[in-house]
Amino acid sequence: MKGLNPIEFVAAIKAIIDGRIDIPQRLAGNQALGVLLNRRSVRDFSSREIEADVLAAILEAGRLAPSTVNLQTWSFCTFDSGSWKKTFGANIPFKASRAVIVLGDAHRMRLVIDEFPFKPLVEYTLAVMNASIAAYAMNIAAEACGASAVMLSETGRTGFYDAKYLKEKLRLPDGVFPLMTLVFGYPKGRKPPMPPKLPLREIVFDGAYGVPDQKVLEAWLKQMMAGYRATRVISSFKGQLRRYLAKVDSAENGLKEMIFHRKEELRDRGKKRERIS
Ligand SMILES: Cc1cc2nc3c(=O)[nH]c(=O)nc-3n(C[C@H](O)[C@H](O)[C@H](O)COP(=O)(O)O)c2cc1C
Repeated sequence: MKGLNPIEFVAAIKAIIDGRIDIPQRLAGNQALGVLLNRRSVRDFSSREIEADVLAAILEAGRLAPSTVNLQTWSFCTFDSGSWKKTFGANIPFKASRAVIVLGDAHRMRLVIDEFPFKPLVEYTLAVMNASIAAYAMNIAAEACGASAVMLSETGRTGFYDAKYLKEKLRLPDGVFPLMTLVFGYPKGRKPPMPPKLPLREIVFDGAYGVPDQKVLEAWLKQMMAGYRATRVISSFKGQLRRYLAKVDSAENGLKEMIFHRKEELRDRGKKRERIS
């Protein structure tokens, strides 16, 4: 990945600023669409606490989210600043007021439905897919209440990159997978601008997969680098990628252990039996 020269930097910043929400004029005043399209990941919160009734509405949006066969394969661990500090020995990232750790949960349904064979990838995919949808519903509910959130999968050991650590901290049974943490608060000042989003023609294909446009992708990457440089003093897009990559091996191993938990257990049991006989 090549760095940016000053001309490329200015052009990329201009492209970010020119980025627009594009909806038909007829729908421009639609409030629900407005909430959805103006959602931004916020990383700078005011000292105003998230009220108990707002948190209740957020959690209700998670509870009522759609899921495969209505299996509701999720659980949510809630924290305020005090309980987060007690559990993790630090402040909630970005000084947010509340945090919800979203867990994919294939454990609970098994307590009443014993027909499920152990198919670890199906189990994991179900849990991740449904719980991510619930997480997004909670994010949008927060926005509808005038609050904001950012989902975290890495920052501050808050998500699946540190799944094993969270499994221990939260005492999770097998079949429950830490995915991400939503931290909630009220934005301090204006929300950040929209980061570079790919154009529809790069992500929507008519009927079958199309050929990505390399030039559009390269322009997007430049905008990502420029956006990082312009908004973060001590970080860069490359630096952020490096941080993720540094944790990739341990994340992969931790997840493997977690996803294939019963396979390991059964294999160990088999070995034990072999030793005994
Ligand atoms: C599953 C998930 C995990 C994320 N993890 C992090 C994270 O660890 N740290 C962070 O600062 N942002 C994180 N984000 C926020 C993304 O960086 C953000 O969604 C993206 O830059 C697009 O910006 P937008 O949400 O304002 O559209 C995460 C987002 C998602 C959906």
